[in-house]
Amino acid sequence: MDKLIVHGGTPIHGAITISGSKNASLPILAATLLTDEDCVIRRVPDVSDTNYMVQILTGLGADVERFSGTVRVTASDITDTAPYDIVRRMRASVCVMGPLLARKRRCVVALPGGCVIGDRPVDLHIRGLEALGAKAEMEGGNVILSAPDGLKGATIDLCGTSGPTVLGTDNVMMAATLAEGITTITSAACEPEVVDLADFLNAMGAKITGAGTPVITIEGVEKLKGCVHNVIPDRIEAGTFMAAAALAGEGVTLRRIRHEHLVAITNTLRKAGHQVHFNDVGDACTIHRGDTPMSAEIVTEPYPGYPTDMQAQMTALFATTPGTSIVVDTIFPQRFMHCAELKRMGADITVENGKAMIKGVDKLSAAPVMASDLRASAALVLAGLTAKGSTEIRRLYHIDRGYEHIDEKLLALGAHVERVRE
Ligand code: UD1
Repeated sequence: MDKLIVHGGTPIHGAITISGSKNASLPILAATLLTDEDCVIRRVPDVSDTNYMVQILTGLGADVERFSGTVRVTASDITDTAPYDIVRRMRASVCVMGPLLARKRRCVVALPGGCVIGDRPVDLHIRGLEALGAKAEMEGGNVILSAPDGLKGATIDLCGTSGPTVLGTDNVMMAATLAEGITTITSAACEPEVVDLADFLNAMGAKITGAGTPVITIEGVEKLKGCVHNVIPDRIEAGTFMAAAALAGEGVTLRRIRHEHLVAITNTLRKAGHQVHFNDVGDACTIHRGDTPMSAEIVTEPYPGYPTDMQAQMTALFATTPGTSIVVDTIFPQRFMHCAELKRMGADITVENGKAMIKGVDKLSAAPVMASDLRASAALVLAGLTAKGSTEIRRLYHIDRGYEHIDEKLLALGAHVERVRE
């Protein structure tokens, strides 16, 4: 098992290129199950979550080839059953449910368990697919969905108690592409990754309008075809390096980003006293640490609000920012595992009912810490960049789930990090 040692105190500077989006790649890879023709997807990041998705597709019978960021999938002959031993490794594997059901008229998918960031229900996914005419049964930890006469378009409200669901919107949108008639999803998630999936599906011949707004309309078609698609840049990887640059940077440039996807993160960094400059076309930005960093407040919300996937990294920045900063997570109120580890490094944080109160200290000090989930581990890496001494981050597999070659990118920026095999 690998661990990362971050030797604190070396400022980062220079330029790196942001990888393709993990969260866009996963449903897009799943969507290749909707056709028996070849699909070519470019800029798929080389992270373990996309590798799991490739394994799931292969396990379902698809032919998959992968070479330097390009994945070619041909799902000519597939089964309808995604077993627990592959699904359990990654919650996002639930997004094969919609395409399998649409293509095979039946699917058996193991239900994902909870995870460290809290209970992760799939009730809205199932409610949406039932509205399209599927019958759902639970058996032996699996959900079995069947629609022997095919799916039928419907109007579906996908709002849960914490707002819309991203993968739930993806699942229903994918299933509806091959349903008879028109489906309207109200309270749809507006995340850029949903838009990227809709663009991919439209390139396959689907008829989807409204993606990126709360109302998505899908006119069902008989058949989808193969296509070539470039995945959008990873806005969370970009945001993580923006926070790293604000914390420990002396001028860091990020290439291949999308300005419009980074508004909430940019506004927060600017409010906290840091400088973010975008180029004219909005596909690169340079971040300079401010001379007088200030405390700030973030409340996570569905897109275009501040993303829950970026709250742990901002907490690491606030840990050494003068004043008291507040972080409220309304999407996953239990997602504060990183705070306990940051406290071991000397941070002054109180967590109560989905809200962290962070009193900035002068400096953190290195400690051996445990990564608990993907974004929490990124927060610990960031904290290590300016901490006194060498921070050892164990359970690095969490970070490898979603950050492509993070150690190499940090090295390229001049950070002093080492990946060590234990
Ligand atoms: C996606 C992202 C994840 C991000 C999250 C929220 C991927 C692969 N993952 O996860 O990184 O943190 O969006 O932006 O894209 N909920 C229900 N019932 C459901 C489904 C969700 O109550 O059936 C609740 C969840 O518990 C949560 C909220 O809805 O409180 C939003 O979750 P959701 O958008 O579904 O997250 P994912 O799509 O799983």
